[in-house]
Amino acid sequence: MSVSDVQLTQAWQQVLRLSRLQPGQSVTILTGAATHAQTLRAATFAAQAAGAVVSRIDLQPVNADKALSRDALSYLGETPLTGNPPAIAALKASDLVIDLMTLLFSPEQIDILRSGTKILLAVEPPEILVRTVPTEADRRRVLAASEKLKKAKQMRVVSDAGTDIAFDLGDFPTICEYGFVDEPGRWDHWPSGFLFTFANEGGSNGSIVIDTGDILLPQKSYTTAPIRLTVEAGYARKIEGGIDAQLLSEYMATFKDPEAYAISHIGWGLQPRCHWSTLALYDKEQTIGMDARAFEGNFLFSLGPNNEAGGQRTTACHIDIPLRRCTVLLDDVMVVERGKVLDGGVRA
Ligand SMILES: [Fe+2]
Repeated sequence: MSVSDVQLTQAWQQVLRLSRLQPGQSVTILTGAATHAQTLRAATFAAQAAGAVVSRIDLQPVNADKALSRDALSYLGETPLTGNPPAIAALKASDLVIDLMTLLFSPEQIDILRSGTKILLAVEPPEILVRTVPTEADRRRVLAASEKLKKAKQMRVVSDAGTDIAFDLGDFPTICEYGFVDEPGRWDHWPSGFLFTFANEGGSNGSIVIDTGDILLPQKSYTTAPIRLTVEAGYARKIEGGIDAQLLSEYMATFKDPEAYAISHIGWGLQPRCHWSTLALYDKEQTIGMDARAFEGNFLFSLGPNNEAGGQRTTACHIDIPLRRCTVLLDDVMVVERGKVLDGGVRA
C-alpha cells in the first residue's frame, strides 16, 4: 500500500526531531540511481521545514561490474566517494547527511563521521519507513540491552534446530542501531532497532543451523531446508545441507576470498514493528531486507568483514543471516529465550 507525501513527511519530521536537527544547520541529501523519488521529496521538505539549509549530492553507482546482484549491500567494495574529494569535503562540512544512496562502510565514511557530521541511512520503500519510524523508546530499549552486551565475555547461542555456538567477546565495541542520529559523529539506519558486536578474532566455535524458514541476505530468501555451518576458530569451515547450502556455498566461493567465511557481527533484534514475514511480501529489487535484520527476538549473525568495528578484516562478501527461535545467553544469563526477548518489551 502506498503512503501519502504527508505521512512520509511527518515520519521524516519525527526522525529529524529525534536527530536534534536545528534551524540553520546544513543537511546534505546523498542520492544515487536507486533513490526513491517520494523519499527524496519528503526528506527535502521535512529538512527545509525544520529550518535547515538543504543541498543534494547525486553520485554515480560503482561496483556494478563486480557485484552479482543489484542489492546495495551485496558487494562491499569501493564507494562512490572513493577518489572524490569535492563530495567528501561537502559531506564533512554538513551537520547531517541523509543517505538515500547507501554509502557503505568505508574509510571515507569513517573520515566524514570523525569530522562530527551525522549520517542517517534510509533506503527502504516509503511504506516501510512510515511503519518503522523510530521512537525514543526504541533507543532506550537498545541502549539497555547494550549495557548487558558491553560487559559480556561470552555469547552462547543454542536452538532446537541444532545451533550450539560460543563467541568470545571483549575485543570489539557494541554497536547500537535505533534509527536516528542524536549525537555528533553518529551513523544510524532507519529502520533498525537492534544491537551487535563482533567476536574476538578466532573466538567463535561451534555449530550454527540455519533452519527452514530462516533468512539469507542478500539472497533475500527463506531457506527451504536446514543449512549446517561448522565454525572453528572464527571461520565457517563447512557449509552442509541441500540446495540452499549449495547456493550459499557457490555464491560465497565466487568472491575467492577466505575472509568471506569469517564470523562477522553478532547480536539480536529488538524492533516489534519489523517482521520476519515481511520479506515474503516484496520483490527482491524493492527492499534490502531491514525487517529481517531487525525483527524482535531474532539472532542476527553474519559472515565477512569486521572493519566496521575497528577490526582489520575487509572482504567484499557479506552475508547477513537472521535466525528465529534461538536462545541467546550472555555469560550464561539468558537475554533471548527461543526467540522471545526477555526485557519486558518496549516501554513508552
Ligand atoms: Fe551485516
